[in-house]
Amino acid sequence: MSHYYFDGQGKAFRPMVVLLMSRACNFHHGAAENSLALPSQRRISMIAEMIHTASLVHDDVIDEADTRRGKACVSYLHGQRKAILTGDYILTVSSMALAAIGNKDVVILLSQVIEDLVRGEFMQLGTKEDEDERFAHYLKKTFKKTASLLAHSCRAVAVLSGSSKDVQEVAYQYGKNLGIAFQLVDDMLDFMSTEELMGKPTAADLKLGLATAPVLFAAEKYPELNAMIMRRFSEPGDVELAREAVTKTDSLQQARILAEQYCREAVRQIQQLAPSPEREALVTLTQKVLNRKK
Ligand code: FPP
Ligand code: MG
Repeated sequence: MSHYYFDGQGKAFRPMVVLLMSRACNFHHGAAENSLALPSQRRISMIAEMIHTASLVHDDVIDEADTRRGKACVSYLHGQRKAILTGDYILTVSSMALAAIGNKDVVILLSQVIEDLVRGEFMQLGTKEDEDERFAHYLKKTFKKTASLLAHSCRAVAVLSGSSKDVQEVAYQYGKNLGIAFQLVDDMLDFMSTEELMGKPTAADLKLGLATAPVLFAAEKYPELNAMIMRRFSEPGDVELAREAVTKTDSLQQARILAEQYCREAVRQIQQLAPSPEREALVTLTQKVLNRKK
């Protein structure tokens, strides 16, 4: 069950970012021109994917999902009890791999990710009563659930490259901004894409009671959405009305503009590193995040 998602079919987005960041930092720090990632940095890239996968196995229990990455999810195939233990097991092995690196600072960084993931998931279970606080709550939740993993793993490989605090901060800020943009696009795709393309259910967030960026923008023009957000779209017709409001307004466009702003900031950050092919790849990646269809 633990091996099930490690079949080479995932996007491996997180390991790719972490490995590129490793090499960009190593290069900036004066390593030879085509310096490979260090074994410890390669380990961080694997650990990042393992933490992510463990959280998805648990998330599919919470969301009662049937599919993930184009196949039936562990909880669907084996039931909730085994899925929870499978997530625990993947997380355990990732913790062992992290401890084996033997760097206390890196252990602290990656432990923070796990706390953020759990807190982010809890934040998603609640809705802010005050409309003005909702967007800030959504962005904070998005940081914890999605961006923290990228931000902290990028900082961890910068630490392992022997980089200065300034460079560590650049790596962190790149990961954070790219991560928030990635989730904004994910939230847009939930309205735009199909289950076939995404390999997981779409149009799912509203049904789960979640108000993401497109709905929060639509509520600025259709204040009647606020009551639905509060009751988490639980009454008949709520989901359909909210979806209609999103399509009738430029809410998806607004979400895209916000994602573009985060990508621009990610680029601004990474350009503080010395030019290298990996730095350029990290710049290009921001465009790929914006234009992805799955
Ligand atoms: C996907 O959310 C879920 C996450 C990014 C994190 C979930 C975190 C937990 C369940 C806490 C437990 C954490 C660990 C480390 C075991 P989504 O439902 O918005 O995305 P989806 O459409 O891909 O399901
Ligand atoms: Mg889910």
